[in-house]
Amino acid sequence: MAMHLNLFTMNAPEHVSPGSWTYPGDGSTRYTDLEYWTEVARTAERGGFDAVFFADVRGIYDVYGGDRYTALERGVQTPSNDPQLLVPAMAQVTDELGFAVTRSTTYIHPYQLAREFSTLDHLTDGRIALNVVTSYLESAARNLGLHERMDKETRYDRADEFLEVCYALWESSWDEDAVRVDADAGVYTDPDGVSSIDHDGECFTVPGPHGCEPSPQRTPVLYQAGSSDRGREFAAANAEAVFASQPTEAGVREYMADLRTRAETYGRDPDSLRFFIGVVPIVGETEELAQAKYESYEDHVDVEATLALLSGFLDMDLSKLDPDQKVEHIETEAIQGTMNAFTRSQPDREWTVREVAQFCGLGTTSPKIVGTPETIADELEYWHEEIGVHGFNVKEVVRPDSLRDFVDLVVPELRARGLLSESQPGQTLRERLYEEDEPRLPADHPGAPERRANVSPSP
Ligand SMILES: Cc1cc2nc3c(=O)[nH]c(=O)nc-3n(C[C@H](O)[C@H](O)[C@H](O)COP(=O)(O)O)c2cc1C
Repeated sequence: MAMHLNLFTMNAPEHVSPGSWTYPGDGSTRYTDLEYWTEVARTAERGGFDAVFFADVRGIYDVYGGDRYTALERGVQTPSNDPQLLVPAMAQVTDELGFAVTRSTTYIHPYQLAREFSTLDHLTDGRIALNVVTSYLESAARNLGLHERMDKETRYDRADEFLEVCYALWESSWDEDAVRVDADAGVYTDPDGVSSIDHDGECFTVPGPHGCEPSPQRTPVLYQAGSSDRGREFAAANAEAVFASQPTEAGVREYMADLRTRAETYGRDPDSLRFFIGVVPIVGETEELAQAKYESYEDHVDVEATLALLSGFLDMDLSKLDPDQKVEHIETEAIQGTMNAFTRSQPDREWTVREVAQFCGLGTTSPKIVGTPETIADELEYWHEEIGVHGFNVKEVVRPDSLRDFVDLVVPELRARGLLSESQPGQTLRERLYEEDEPRLPADHPGAPERRANVSPSP
């Protein structure tokens, strides 16, 4: 299995390295400029990336200090624009690059999402993935019609039903040959080839049918990053690719083994899960140059902004804690993976609040890999070959220089070692990820028509 790469980014001037927008020459403030994104797409494609992976949040980071002041002042994932709208323009300037877009099952309707992603799958010729999240910011809930955030269990129950509706729309509503385009007979679509889905559940009522004809992948490639017990269940049942947020080898190994075991209980081949970890590569032509670059990046870390970001991730006001206080494990209603990264996955080490903020200031919980192209390739090769991680979500610090450095310096080394996945023209994102000639969901996936035949009303 080849090594797969995603560029992990956000349609915002700041993503996961708070303060880096102040770095001399950083171009993040161009995020409102479409040319910035088409350039990113071209560079990522040149570097053999499988996809650009867009994080996205709704709401504002207002947990730290109990208000939004720091988030606004320091640019903590704010302002931010919608990532989905960038995709057609980025797809047009590329041929093989995929796009993974984060969408929340908590605040939108599945009929709407199914339509948007069918459209994107058509427009990109099957290069689209959906990162399914349930959202963690209370401020998002307040803006989107709820008085408070739903608890995690309820969010994931809703997410289960949400995907159930989407699977029915994408996979079962239109027969493969329903679209006839027979001008002589005056038949565009054979009405008998299109079925209602008649979904009537706890959260959604959707009679269907789907409004879109089948797209190349039908269901987009499904990404997920759940880390809590309930989140892992959801990922094991539905995700094709998962994003582990642990910074340690032991933490990643535990996560992989656990998700594989859980996937089996859903009747899925455990080896069909694809695991990605986040990494922050900081590369220089020599070790000294790389180290100097790392130190200059560290100097620009905005510790207070990082605390504001982490307060949102953990749903805990870190301004109230003594910076030298030890971090104690909690179960959070927000992102469990961020908590686990410093507690469960590192039982032998104690972290203070200050240390966590300093570590997370560059790419949050992900390992930082500093060195020459060879050093970075060695490290990635180790995670890939020895630990069995399929791919990496590459996190930038300075934009777009971090991406360019990686593409110009590290990618040639990965290619020279024959490690990198190279796409074939016309391949869908799913075919590229699985390295198989099959654009549709695997038959053992709960959304696949073979499986759905047992659980849904007959079409
Ligand atoms: C690495 C990683 C990236 C994530 N990216 C996003 C994101 O872009 N938007 C979002 O709303 N949630 C994001 N999440 C949140 C999760 O997808 C999930 O909804 C949340 O963590 C709550 O579930 P959990 O505690 O089971 O992880 C991310 C989580 C992790 C670990």
